Amino acid sequence: MIYLKTPEEIQQMRSSATLVSQTLGEVARWIQPGVTTRKLDTIAREFILDNGGKPACLGYEGFPGTLCIEVNETVVHGFPSDYELRDGDIVGIDTVVEKDGFMGDSCYTFAVGEISPEKKALCRTTRDSLEAGIRATKVGGRIGDIAQTVQEYCERRGYSVVREMCGHGIGRHMHESPEVPNYGRRGTGALLRNGMCICIEPMINMGSRNIVIERDGWTCRTRDRKPSAHYEHTLALLDDQVITLTTFDYIHQAITDKFI
Ligand code: MF3
Ligand code: CO
Repeated sequence: MIYLKTPEEIQQMRSSATLVSQTLGEVARWIQPGVTTRKLDTIAREFILDNGGKPACLGYEGFPGTLCIEVNETVVHGFPSDYELRDGDIVGIDTVVEKDGFMGDSCYTFAVGEISPEKKALCRTTRDSLEAGIRATKVGGRIGDIAQTVQEYCERRGYSVVREMCGHGIGRHMHESPEVPNYGRRGTGALLRNGMCICIEPMINMGSRNIVIERDGWTCRTRDRKPSAHYEHTLALLDDQVITLTTFDYIHQAITDKFI
């Protein structure tokens, strides 16, 4: 069941989307070698609460953090921990904020210190595939238009697309219908209609697409332990327009030097 939002509800979605974007901007300031991912998690939680939001991941089906932490080979859903970020790591920070009853979801993969050209290219390609997916999103089009665009963008550059995890609808709930896969065929899948809000979130691997879930039941990593990158925006379809509700502007203002 796809919940179509009224223009008023999409207006409310803007405030959760803005707060999640600002939260990632705040976290960005703290990313450097030696910082623990738990410290980043605390900063995010306090920032969200101070700004009238709720950290929606915290306690979601038992998830133990405000942030999902994705270091190097971690694809998604890693826990905040005592791990200290190291020079050369890439770290995806994925989080969901609830505000006024609606959710905003965004993710960005950061460079810690100096990273290899290979990791830089992986991150760049993944971020650009998200932009390509957004450009392929049209009212009257289909989910498969987004899916094939992201898949082709990444596979043509020699990367692989994680299949087990997808983007999703979003609204009063973090995960709503439809699923938004990062692989598929143009012209297939759910029709993109005014009132839909969706998250596009390519999870792209340097090596093979295979993943494993660690014994904690959450942490998803690449089977070959090669790096993976992840970026995500929340979008709304309104008046035949596609509006990207989240933004990386706060991040880019914070980390001009760490910009990949
Ligand atoms: N953006 C992630 C997702 O869509 C957020 C997961 S939050 C968690 O799956 F609590 F489930 F970890
Ligand atoms: Co998401």
